Amino acid sequence: MTGPTQAVILAGGQGTRLRPLTYARPKPVVPLSNQPFLAYQLAHLRDHGVTDVILSCGYRVDDVRAALGDGERLGVCLRYVVEDEPLGTGGGVRNAADVTSGTVFVLNGDVLTDIDLTAMRRFHEAHGSRTTIYLTPVDDPRAYGLVETENDGRLLRFREKPGRDEPITTNMINAGVYLIDATLLARMPADRPVSIEREFFPALIADGIPAFGWHLPAYWRDIGSPAAYLAAQIDLLAGRVHTRVAPEGDARDGVRLHPTAECERGAVLEAPCVVGAGARLAAGSRVGPFAVLGDGVSVSRGASVEHAILWERVDVGADTVLRGCVLGADVKIGTGAHIEAGVVVESGGVVPAGSRLALAG
Ligand code: GDD
Ligand code: MG
Repeated sequence: MTGPTQAVILAGGQGTRLRPLTYARPKPVVPLSNQPFLAYQLAHLRDHGVTDVILSCGYRVDDVRAALGDGERLGVCLRYVVEDEPLGTGGGVRNAADVTSGTVFVLNGDVLTDIDLTAMRRFHEAHGSRTTIYLTPVDDPRAYGLVETENDGRLLRFREKPGRDEPITTNMINAGVYLIDATLLARMPADRPVSIEREFFPALIADGIPAFGWHLPAYWRDIGSPAAYLAAQIDLLAGRVHTRVAPEGDARDGVRLHPTAECERGAVLEAPCVVGAGARLAAGSRVGPFAVLGDGVSVSRGASVEHAILWERVDVGADTVLRGCVLGADVKIGTGAHIEAGVVVESGGVVPAGSRLALAG
């Protein structure tokens, strides 16, 4: 295969909007169908011939290493560059400049997507582009980087998260997937934090360096908030994302049960759902649709779990109702509790028996 075979993944942010989940586990490795998030990006890169991947890390790098190691299991070779202090999205890529060459893919480490990276590379080469940004349309672009282009795709303007009173000129946003000529990385100062969105891209445009936006319809979502994280999990269970990453265990009619999970007679599993290693479901419990139970989760009799993500070892008491929520590892839910849509419980949290938790408003 010709063209770039290297990628840098930005995986050093603090994941503030995904708190409290990210206090215990950094965003790049939060579980999706019981696999660390970056497993999906790495498998996707590999499928497009990219196997040399540099993870640009800072916050909780040890957890990232523990989850992904050297990448061998995923068919890639991982290297880590680590910041003492956050260097920003540009600084994080700049920090990998010494180990990159040629044209490199750069990815935000929190986007779930199945875009055709090979087609993107073809576009990049055919247009003599030195930086290509994958664009995606969204309904409300304010929370993203707005990208205006000429008819041929050439970048006209990059505006990161415009203020309330600024007009919205496009719904095409920066999807956080780039192809960059590695020699351009030296344009960013190495001694201070740099924003790739606020500094690097606008400067390329100002200096007339060939830079393009490109779009092809595909699945795309930033998982950076609890609602988006749960939505991504639901999309994955619904088969809306093309991926070959799959949880362990056989899928039968949309139910994926790990071989070591124990389901008592009378427990009901409704597809789609995923049940992890060593999980136990008591008689009269109900799991699914759209539920993911991490390894070692225990669901007592009369409990029901749907549209929810439960990390490892969550203990679900009898007669509880969990709907539309995300529960961190080792959470304990007391008997008869009800947890409703949008609620997030931090790892290690304890919800007393009989509690009612719902989002205000
Ligand atoms: N190494 C490193 N150092 N990585 C960082 C740092 C840092 O200081 N700060 C953030 N990152 C990583 C995050 O971990 C994440 O994977 C990625 O950079 C993007 O940061 P976010 O904080 O998730 O940015 P955002 O979602 O608000 O906006 C970005 O993504 C949008 C698409 O989802 C921007 O690139 C927008 O322009 C874009 O539209
Ligand atoms: Mg993000």
